[in-house]
Amino acid sequence: MRNENIVFIGFMGSGKSSLARALSQKTNRVFLDSDSLIEMKFQKSISEIFKIFGEEFFRKEEQKLAYLFSMTNKAIISTGGGFIHVSDFKSLGFCIYLRAEFDFLNKQLSLEEKNKRPLFCNEFKAKKLYNKRIKDYEKKADLIIDIENKNIEELLEEITKRI
Ligand code: S3P
Repeated sequence: MRNENIVFIGFMGSGKSSLARALSQKTNRVFLDSDSLIEMKFQKSISEIFKIFGEEFFRKEEQKLAYLFSMTNKAIISTGGGFIHVSDFKSLGFCIYLRAEFDFLNKQLSLEEKNKRPLFCNEFKAKKLYNKRIKDYEKKADLIIDIENKNIEELLEEITKRI
C-alpha cells in the first residue's frame, strides 16, 4: 500500500528542497532530503562523492534511501533530480513534479550552484539530460506544478490547495 509521504521531484534548479522544507514547516511534518542525507553520511559534498566514488555509487545510496523512505509515513521528501529512477519509486508517496523549461532552470542556478552539481557543470550535457528526463518526471507525477515566475509563497498556496 502507498504511504502518505509527499515526494518532490524535478530537474536540478527547480527548488525542490526549498519548497519541501517550507511545506514541512507549514504542515508540521518531518522533512527529508535525499542529497543532504547522503552528504551527511559521508561528510562530503555531492560533487566530492561523484568525484571520489562515482555516479553509480551515488545511485546505490539513493536506492538505499528509497527503501528507508518507503517505510516512513507523512514525511515531506525532497529528492535529487535523478532519484525517480530508483526501483519502486511510486510506492514512496504522493509525487509532485516541479516543472519548468530548461532555459528557466539554467538561469535560476548561479555559477556557484551549477558547480555544486556534477551533472550541470556542462550546459550542453545538462540540456540533453533534461530532454531525456522530462517525460519520466511527467509519468511519475501525481501532480504537476508549473513553477516559472511564481514565488515560494504562491507555490506553497497552489500546492496546499491541491493536495
Ligand atoms: C542530480 C541532481 C542533484 C544531485 C546529483 C545528481 C541528477 O540534485 O542529486 O547531483 O541526477 O539530476 P538536485 O536536483 O537537488 O540538484
